[in-house]
Amino acid sequence: MEELKNSFPFEIRNVEGTDNKELSKYFLGAGNFNIQVGPKKYLLMSDYKGDADNIYNMPLRQDDIFVVTYPRSGTTWTQELVWLLASGLDYSTAVKVPLSSRSIFLEFPMLMHQNIVEHLMKEHAEKPENLKTFQLMRTPGSEQVARMPSPRFIRTHLPLSLLPPTLLDSTKVVYVARDPRDVAVSYYHLSSEFKSYNFNGDFKTYWSLFVRDLVYWSPFFEHLKEAWEMRHHPNMMFLFYEELLQDLPTTVQRVADFLGKEYTADQIKELCTHLKFENFKKNPSVGIDNLKEYGMMAPKGEFIRKGKSGGWRDYFDDEMTREAQRWIDNNLHNTDIQFPTVQ
Ligand code: A3P
Repeated sequence: MEELKNSFPFEIRNVEGTDNKELSKYFLGAGNFNIQVGPKKYLLMSDYKGDADNIYNMPLRQDDIFVVTYPRSGTTWTQELVWLLASGLDYSTAVKVPLSSRSIFLEFPMLMHQNIVEHLMKEHAEKPENLKTFQLMRTPGSEQVARMPSPRFIRTHLPLSLLPPTLLDSTKVVYVARDPRDVAVSYYHLSSEFKSYNFNGDFKTYWSLFVRDLVYWSPFFEHLKEAWEMRHHPNMMFLFYEELLQDLPTTVQRVADFLGKEYTADQIKELCTHLKFENFKKNPSVGIDNLKEYGMMAPKGEFIRKGKSGGWRDYFDDEMTREAQRWIDNNLHNTDIQFPTVQ
């Protein structure tokens, strides 16, 4: 029997006018490849267009586990945590097989846009094996995950509304949120170092784009609210990055309970040691050294960077601090969302 397909319900528009001028001025890597999706105007890159419908309609498996986040919210940390809990704490595989292969980044191919591919093709003309890898990286995410053996671990920054409507009825989802001021600082560093963005500006400029939803996968608060609304669904676990930081063992135990996995206190302790920032930062299996080798990330770039909460204070002057508070208050008005604060 032919499967019923939902047609993709959202309009996809090229970003135009001053917004596009500003985006191409500062995101040198992404240039004009900017689109906005649906009424909330999620900012993505043009290559998403070709896979939008397939992602929205991707066949799900009952044992899939999705980690869904706005960028720089603790995705990688949570992916490793979820993978290990769901894989019998198989550290030997976790060390051997890179996290990016164990847990696929669904819409990563949109970051491999024409600009960066042309640049990489030139740089790697003498290394055909790398050229092949770049082509593979461009394979639509929906195709990559269709080929994965079960259980599948899928990472995405897409908001719930752009994922299959039956997602939560079929699979488990861990959503991680983080204080947007720390997200912006972390994202600013990544955007300046990762060639697909190649952000060329200071933090103040980045922040002004961030609050106007002109940073990829924004609007931040719409993303968050979509997940928050579903937080009581039995297949949804809504976590804050700050909860992981404040009390890793208790939060790890909550995730284990959510996944229906039982481990001893000693096993949880060992997992926390594995996930501890100092160890995590040194773990090549969760890092992105390959992106540096390919020249997609600046040599000094750090994917696992500081691992702190509240570091934003070093980047915001008084006026920005007040503006940020106003922006947060305006967006959280009429919601019961509260970011846990870490001293
Ligand atoms: P900072 O840049 O503030 O340090 P993502 O994986 O979603 O891109 O999130 C990256 C952020 O999570 C970075 O924040 C990174 O340092 C932090 N992070 C990654 N692993 C961590 C860990 N084990 N402990 C604490 N923070 C971690």
